[in-house]
Amino acid sequence: MQNNKKIWMVKTSKIHGTGVFATQNIAKGTRIIEYIGQKVTKKEGDKRSERRIKKYLNSKETGSVYIFELNSRYDIDGSYSYNKARFINHSCNPNCEVDIIKGKIWISSIKKIKIGEEFTYDYGYEFDKEDFTDHICECGSKKCIGYIISQDDWGKYKNWKKKIKLLEKKSI
Ligand SMILES: C[S@@+](CC[C@H](N)C(=O)[O-])C[C@H]1O[C@@H](n2cnc3c(N)ncnc32)[C@H](O)[C@@H]1O
Ligand SMILES: [Zn+2]
Repeated sequence: MQNNKKIWMVKTSKIHGTGVFATQNIAKGTRIIEYIGQKVTKKEGDKRSERRIKKYLNSKETGSVYIFELNSRYDIDGSYSYNKARFINHSCNPNCEVDIIKGKIWISSIKKIKIGEEFTYDYGYEFDKEDFTDHICECGSKKCIGYIISQDDWGKYKNWKKKIKLLEKKSI
């Protein structure tokens, strides 16, 4: 059982920028924080993502795109200061997962989490050989694969790497 105290806090992360951390020990299966924001159509969500990516590419400013897929029709634009869940980083060995429950996006623990630990989840990025190197992973876990790639696609990535190595050997 959790008490009513806020079980998370936002602070600087060793993984990247700002992160979200546990303020108490947390049991597996706990709803930590809801990812809140403006509900927009996929079309609008894609438009906003593209606009923000372009903005960061064209300036020295660094930033993140906080568009979260709710379902096949809608996204949540979580780029508002009240949405602290937007700061949760990715890990190759995450302690949380995303649960969509009755149209709400919840970040829930998938293991016991100790006070002070950073909350992370698998961003679920598909492996795409054209641009996976754009997302270097700094999660620091022992099993880090080096890039932000969904664990579901690690097999695809490893096979692709094997093929490349074989091609490189042949061309020597
Ligand atoms: C939704 S934000 C997460 C919050 C971010 N730390 C911040 O301060 O805005 C997503 C961005 O954080 C960075 N990020 C998240 N997880 C990362 C990781 N494991 N390694 C490197 N960068 C990461 C990437 O730049 C990603 O595009
Ligand atoms: Zn990693």
